[in-house]
Amino acid sequence: MEIIVSKIDRTSSEFVERKKVYEELILKWRSHLKRTTDRGNEPAMIKHIERGKLPVRRRITLLTDPGTPFLELSSLAAIGQYNNSFPSAGIITGIGIIHGKPVVIVANDATVKGGTYVKETVKKHIRAQEIAMQNHLPCIYLVDSGGIFLPEQAELFPDRNHFGRIFFNQAQMSAAGIPQISIVMGSCTAGGAYVPAMSDQTIMVQNQGTIFIGGPPLVKAATGEDVTAEELGGADVHTSISGVADHLAADDADALRICRSIFETMPPVIPSYPEGSIGQVLEQSEPEDPLYSSDDLYGIAPIDLKKPIEVYEIIARLTDGSKFQEFKENYGTTIITGFAKLNGYPIGIIANNGFLTSEASLKAAHFIELCNFRKIPLVFLQNITGFVVGKKYEHEGIARNGAKLIHSVATSTVPKFTVVIGGSYGAGNYAMSGRAYDPHFLFMWPNARIGVMGGEQASSVLSNIRQEKSSTNASTLVEQFEEQSTALYSTSRIWDDGIIDPTETRKILALTLTLSLYKKWKSPQAGIYRM
Ligand code: COA
Repeated sequence: MEIIVSKIDRTSSEFVERKKVYEELILKWRSHLKRTTDRGNEPAMIKHIERGKLPVRRRITLLTDPGTPFLELSSLAAIGQYNNSFPSAGIITGIGIIHGKPVVIVANDATVKGGTYVKETVKKHIRAQEIAMQNHLPCIYLVDSGGIFLPEQAELFPDRNHFGRIFFNQAQMSAAGIPQISIVMGSCTAGGAYVPAMSDQTIMVQNQGTIFIGGPPLVKAATGEDVTAEELGGADVHTSISGVADHLAADDADALRICRSIFETMPPVIPSYPEGSIGQVLEQSEPEDPLYSSDDLYGIAPIDLKKPIEVYEIIARLTDGSKFQEFKENYGTTIITGFAKLNGYPIGIIANNGFLTSEASLKAAHFIELCNFRKIPLVFLQNITGFVVGKKYEHEGIARNGAKLIHSVATSTVPKFTVVIGGSYGAGNYAMSGRAYDPHFLFMWPNARIGVMGGEQASSVLSNIRQEKSSTNASTLVEQFEEQSTALYSTSRIWDDGIIDPTETRKILALTLTLSLYKKWKSPQAGIYRM
């Protein structure tokens, strides 16, 4: 494979200026993260600790192997919504390591409105289950929740991907042989009671955990019976009378220890790569670091989307040895396709380098077929303003050729990983494996923008349609589009799995790539391509 020779001049004023602007963006994003995760002085946290309970992120640290990383997903979910009263949407999800094996962890944060669920909480919970299913990973629920946040119930109760889907998924996961363990560390009311009740094994913390379909006030109203929470559904009741839970723990730390010991004796859920998995086919060579520092990405990442960037420079900071074997280098050059290695594993990279044209679409569709037949996972680096427009392009059939690319992305059977490194606009989002195309993981860089089109374009489109020249309307629309297309807006609504620091992209891709190798391989199968 050829080595990409970087042409970046770190002393150029353009590089220095971009880097400075990017570092400010990173500081802003970090301060949002700090405010979301550092809430030790809040009354709800003080009350939580006084009750002898551990903060949710501390619970996760004790559950996982010491010194191992925890890949937290969508940390900024619900930011800028509900008056910012649902930090991280009240639930922490991610991938951690227990006894050397990866597991998905879903943990309620009882210091956020009693651990209750709003729409984004449900979305995060379900997304974590999807990741467990997609990668065949065990799932642990740290339950401490008052169930549905009642004022919002209509937004998250009855629909297909609402609260009920959590328990539907638990049954599906169980049937697929995915172990699920619950630790009840607080309240577990109404529908929430089914989280532990549908798990393989449940641990309950004494004098702290409760499980009931209806709490004491509801029982009193319905039957007139006076009963305390502990008598109705405490840990002693469920581990010695009802049988809803299996293990009694003295406190949080004891419960987490019991959970770890369950994993010690469980037969490996993840055998060395199972028959028919991608891991069985892909050979890992000795990983090599890229030749160039990832810190340079701050000076390369596209901040002003009107200015083109050298995407080869980004690829050179992600791949092993900065090597890249390009495919169709001189054809359809607004998309870059090629093979590389990441952490020793072969990957196929598809990166934007301008508008999507007919040639670029055909080239990328061809490349996806190559990766599918060779069983090579795909990494999409999205920086796309959309498909090219105009009479010439419509006449040559851009819709027909774009359809081939969208078809290939949708029916591709290898794991796909999407990183939005710049813009993600219009059908370009679909063609480059946006969220609707089921990439195994999708992350955004802090500078990323996402929307049907840019604010200025939307404004001129609408004023053309409406024959309306009102500058107030136009500027409101531009502002609205700009605000709604930020990475923060996207991550708040869980359109992605989180915002990541560009310098961590290689590490995160390496980890998520490793997780995807356990998944069973399906033969490539496409439908009808319009020729
Ligand atoms: N809907 C809306 N808000 C709720 C809620 C619910 N289901 N459960 C708790 N809250 C709110 C409280 O009003 C309070 O809000 P505030 O901070 O603005 O004052 C906050 O969450 C914390 O609740 P609080 O009762 O002070 O905390 P706690 O730790 O002592 O108790 C619970 C937490 C969950 C045990 C308790 O609030 C409770 O039993 N809630 C009702 C649970 C229920 O019946 N759910 C059925 C819906 S499926």
